[in-house]
Amino acid sequence: SARRICVVGSANIDLTFRTPRFPQPGETLTGYSQHQGMGGKGANQAVAAARLGTDVTFIACVGNDAFGKAAIDAYEAEGIQTSVMRRAEDQPTGTAAILVDDHAENCIIVVAGANGRLNAEDVKAASSMIEQSDAVLCQLETPVVAAVEAFRLARTLDVLTVLTPAPAEHVTDQLLALCDVCVPNRLEISTLTGQPVETEADALRAAELLRERGVKRVALTMGGNGVFLLDDSGSAHISAIKVEAVDTTGAGDAFTAALTVSLVDGMTLTESARWASTVAAISVTRIGTQTAFPTLKEVNEWSPLKKNA
Ligand code: RIB
Ligand code: NA
Repeated sequence: SARRICVVGSANIDLTFRTPRFPQPGETLTGYSQHQGMGGKGANQAVAAARLGTDVTFIACVGNDAFGKAAIDAYEAEGIQTSVMRRAEDQPTGTAAILVDDHAENCIIVVAGANGRLNAEDVKAASSMIEQSDAVLCQLETPVVAAVEAFRLARTLDVLTVLTPAPAEHVTDQLLALCDVCVPNRLEISTLTGQPVETEADALRAAELLRERGVKRVALTMGGNGVFLLDDSGSAHISAIKVEAVDTTGAGDAFTAALTVSLVDGMTLTESARWASTVAAISVTRIGTQTAFPTLKEVNEWSPLKKNA
């Protein structure tokens, strides 16, 4: 039967503005286009995993507003189990204003809204869903108490725990001690460990420091520089797949979801990271976050652009 994944985390409406460059303070800039889609690191991971053929349960909190209804409808259309999602009465659905420039760089402002209302009780109420899952994914755009509760339950039930430590300031030692797989980017691992990452030796040192705090496997994502892996079996470096990037927003979420899907399918960390890199590469060739995530069929049929061939 299909694998099952439980995602605990944020749901946002993403408003993406494409612009030649970022504005200066006081400047009004004319953009090229605007795209509205579903986002939030939690929802992104849930949708990415669902498109890759996994049964997904999403534990999240949206507002009792039009955006909240649109979000739930969208997840249901993806086949995601939303019965344990909650509508907060006193906060709007989370929103993100995303600027993407000609270099495919982004600047993001997130307003948490209802995401800030997700609590340990919401997770406890969904414990039977966690029990039936092969993995639990958390990020920290929702309160850390919800993530800790999810990982605590998962550990007692022998369910794999996967963490995107973003924002890194919200990570606690308790959470790291319950973490099987941690997927930081360079900035996040530096914040967590105090070790800046420029060279491969830096990456190894930072990943070792994370493992000293209880994390079993580290997958450090470095954008165009690929992925650095460290676990009991040693370290590995996976090169990035070269593509024409138009919007990298959410690529890390697609990577983490795909990595988890592959790990629960029994693949090794290295095999999983290679496959997840392909999924992430496809997502950066398209505008938006969830609008950019591929289906399993698209991943199987995709091959990278051959430049200068
Ligand atoms: O990781 C990308 C996500 O970060 C966006 O979808 C946005 O909503 C912010 O939460
Ligand atoms: Na994209």
